[in-house]
Amino acid sequence: MTVKQRSASSDPASEVRSLRAAIEEHNYAYYVLDRPTVADAEYDRLLRRLQELEAANPELVTPDSPSQRVGITPASELKPVTHLRAMLSLENCFNEEELAAFDRRVLTRLAAADIEAGTVSYVAEPKLDGAAVSFLYEHGALKLAATRGDGTTGEDVTHNVRTIQAVPLRLRGPQLPALLEVRGEVYMPRAGFEEFNRQAVKRGEKTFVNPRNAAAGSLRQLDPKLAAARPLDVFFYGLGEVRGWALPATHADVLMALRAFGLKTSPDWELVAGIQGCLAYYSNIGRKRPNLPYDIDGVVYKVNDLAWQEALGFVSRAPRWAIAHKFPAQEEMTEVLGIEFQVGRTGAVTPVARLKPTFVGGVTVSNATLHNFDELSRKDVRVGDTVVIRRAGDVIPEVVQVVSARRPKDAVPVAVPSKCPVCASEVVRIEGEAIARCSAGLFCPAQRKETIRHFASRAAMDIEGLGEKLVDQLVDAGLVSDPADVYGLTLERLVELERMGEKSAKNLLDALEKSKRTTFVRFLYALGIRDVGEATALALATHIGSLHELMDADEQRLQEVPDIGPVVAGHVRAFFAQRHNREVIRRLLKQGVHWPRPRVTAPVNSHIAGKQIVLTGTLTSMSRDEAKAKLRALGAKVAGSVSKKTDIVIAGENPGSKLDKAVSLGVTVWEEAELLRLIGEERP
Ligand code: IVH
Repeated sequence: MTVKQRSASSDPASEVRSLRAAIEEHNYAYYVLDRPTVADAEYDRLLRRLQELEAANPELVTPDSPSQRVGITPASELKPVTHLRAMLSLENCFNEEELAAFDRRVLTRLAAADIEAGTVSYVAEPKLDGAAVSFLYEHGALKLAATRGDGTTGEDVTHNVRTIQAVPLRLRGPQLPALLEVRGEVYMPRAGFEEFNRQAVKRGEKTFVNPRNAAAGSLRQLDPKLAAARPLDVFFYGLGEVRGWALPATHADVLMALRAFGLKTSPDWELVAGIQGCLAYYSNIGRKRPNLPYDIDGVVYKVNDLAWQEALGFVSRAPRWAIAHKFPAQEEMTEVLGIEFQVGRTGAVTPVARLKPTFVGGVTVSNATLHNFDELSRKDVRVGDTVVIRRAGDVIPEVVQVVSARRPKDAVPVAVPSKCPVCASEVVRIEGEAIARCSAGLFCPAQRKETIRHFASRAAMDIEGLGEKLVDQLVDAGLVSDPADVYGLTLERLVELERMGEKSAKNLLDALEKSKRTTFVRFLYALGIRDVGEATALALATHIGSLHELMDADEQRLQEVPDIGPVVAGHVRAFFAQRHNREVIRRLLKQGVHWPRPRVTAPVNSHIAGKQIVLTGTLTSMSRDEAKAKLRALGAKVAGSVSKKTDIVIAGENPGSKLDKAVSLGVTVWEEAELLRLIGEERP
């Protein structure tokens, strides 16, 4: 390193430059290569010198200087950020059979796409238990970092992510992408987590339950100084949108390229062959797990070949080319103190076991679901029983089985209640169905409360402060009986509630106001339509552009949306057919609930924006649904049949009579290659 000689130079600008280069070099060696090249004291000296020079020459300070990790001003709120490509989640598997089924599906699909696969090469990576973050680098400079959020829209956490030393503010290398959206997991190493909690106890502050919550909580701080004090780290594991850089051929090459850019990847990933290779990796890392410096909850396998990934594509929630293989859930024994019935949003009456509090898989569990009455009678859980409970990852703890040898003599089986435990209306159970439901609908306070809680929840309208207790109070006081009522709340009304000061009331009104600006996906999810979770809401919003179109869509149109079958289509239709629901929606919009028009992820393409396009024949590079979605995203209208209004017909293999009609009407006909060129997926 030539820094030492140069540091005597009288030109501060060039000294600042070489100090930065030296510090970046040391950071790379330390964080990415895990091979420190200087002693801490020397590193500190370089950084201090840089700070001195920058203090004396403020015009030399740049945002990507290693001295500028902690910004001065805290954020006033976390702003929403639309990811350029959606952040997906992963399908899970828990055993060898499920893994084998995944591998078979991969092989079958590749064969269907006319690809001869043999044994599939997978990249196996540890599945870290932290928070997923999307990082945006433009011409090598870190521009934005955002949480996953609902997959489409996350929260801007750039100010905190910049404080993570392992996240480079600038990428390395001669040929940097014009734009690189890179994904990774921000996590808190175990040692740091324990130390942080020890200090928190000393200061009399709240501790974190587990490293995952610690990472997610730290990222969402408003003041970057707080995040900077948390020992956060990162592993990068994948890409989102990329522009101005030719993708390598395999995921393994992507990981190596990321590392060369200075982005820290897991040192433990491996290229393995077929499921035998996956299983060997799994048991190997399982053995290492207790000694790893961070928490992992499983392994992720990803098809190595990127062209194959492309051919496999996605289902609404997750890629078909990757799967998470989770470690076995953690189990414990405890005692059933009581069995109660909860009434959910749709009236479903769920039996819940109240348990003697027990520590399982990192948290204390005091309730476990028994799912439904079939499960309850199959497992025959009774009050006083000793049971095995299990908690897997984030899922709700469940009762696995009764330890029958320990059953008290007087224990009696539990019967299905005939009346709703909340509103005393009749409970109905359709023959052959496991689920019993309260028949009262929104007249049942429990259903009302759950509907409103769901509406206000984080992934829905995200109304801060409108929590469980307050919803109870509002419904019990008769102030709110449907979601639209919450936007009619006033300060005068609120302060009359018990335990509600003027300050909290004002905060709630602010939060309500803030929540009015939302996204179409969140709004749809918030409505609480049966079986419309976040993924389905996302699919609906992506494929049916507007609320009004969706409200009037018939079941056939709904089923054109990928992964929407007759059952969900029926629920959606039934929901919008109810006058009451339409009325609630009308009032919500009138009270100012709104969302920006979805940002088209790809630029609107002037060749096809507004054009009516018809697809015929079999496409080889993607399914017809994918093609439709992509064309719509570029602003085209996709129609089912050819008419005089048709602008372009895209003909795949074995085109049908639509092609003849197009030719006879003189409509422009394209081959698949032209389509690919247009949507920017041209292949060699
Ligand atoms: S790949 C489309 N790789 O697991 C691919 N995810 O359950 C999506 N995660 O949201 C993610 N380690 O937060 C991937 N090596 C890894 C991962 C990983 C942890 C998390 C990530 C994701 C979640 C999905």
